[in-house]
Amino acid sequence: MKHLLGIEGLPAAELERLLESAAQLKSQPPRLTPTGAIVVNLFFEASTRTRVSFEIAALRLGHQVVNWTAQGSSQEKGETLLDTAHNLAAMKPAAIVVRHAASGAPAYLAARVGVPIVNAGDGAHEHPSQALLDAFTLRQHWGPLTGRTIAIVGDIAHSRVARSALHCFTALGARVRVCGPSGLLPAGIETLAPAVTRHTDLDEALAGVDAVMALRLQRERLDGVGLPGLRDYHRRYGVTRARLDARAPRALVLHPGPLNRGVELTSEVADGPESVILEQVESGVAVRMAILKWVLA
Ligand code: NCD
Repeated sequence: MKHLLGIEGLPAAELERLLESAAQLKSQPPRLTPTGAIVVNLFFEASTRTRVSFEIAALRLGHQVVNWTAQGSSQEKGETLLDTAHNLAAMKPAAIVVRHAASGAPAYLAARVGVPIVNAGDGAHEHPSQALLDAFTLRQHWGPLTGRTIAIVGDIAHSRVARSALHCFTALGARVRVCGPSGLLPAGIETLAPAVTRHTDLDEALAGVDAVMALRLQRERLDGVGLPGLRDYHRRYGVTRARLDARAPRALVLHPGPLNRGVELTSEVADGPESVILEQVESGVAVRMAILKWVLA
């Protein structure tokens, strides 16, 4: 049984196959005859893009979708994650797409519940479909990522997006610079994958990069103590027009969403000509179709 739990450890050839499959599925018309398969979205945390695009991806493949959300569920009566998953699995869905605040929750379920599990974001651990859609978007502009340099800026410590992206980009041959305040840069992050460097100075991190990914401060994972003052944070780590013009004039701008405009990047940049933020969202459907096809094969 196949699961997609993270990018770490997936061979580059497997990532390439998923991206190729997404490219083919992107232009494929939606299937109108139902497959009979049902995909359950099991989301314990808030989501807009990820949940809707997994749903649209499943529908385009001809599957049906059931959306479970923690609010209004038996979780409110004290049911455990494992009991909830076992009960849903007893109804024989073809796959379960899980988002949970605990790092490792999807792997925990994959080892115990006899249904293919797709990780849609687990705590600060991984968000594999996001990394694949980021790589897909960049490949549409560049072709292969080999030899490119990508800066990831912001709350690296609490970002599952950063962790999956650095594994994915480096596996595909790019170099990654992670940048943020030292309190939000985990010690040893540069040892997670080859070709990763660590920076606390944004101008240094941006110099000559081919793309920059801005990340949100993960307030829900910061206990308030570690949360920097937003004005000062923006001054030091905000991606602005002036900074891009000075340090990386040809860089593409990525952001996984949701945006905090005026904090990690300005509206001028988010809506500017180098922004591929909505292309990322568009790519998300094709990439998630490829992921569902892969786990259901
Ligand atoms: C991200 C997430 O939930 O990890 N959003 C997303 O899925 N596109 C990023 C975030 O919450 O900042």
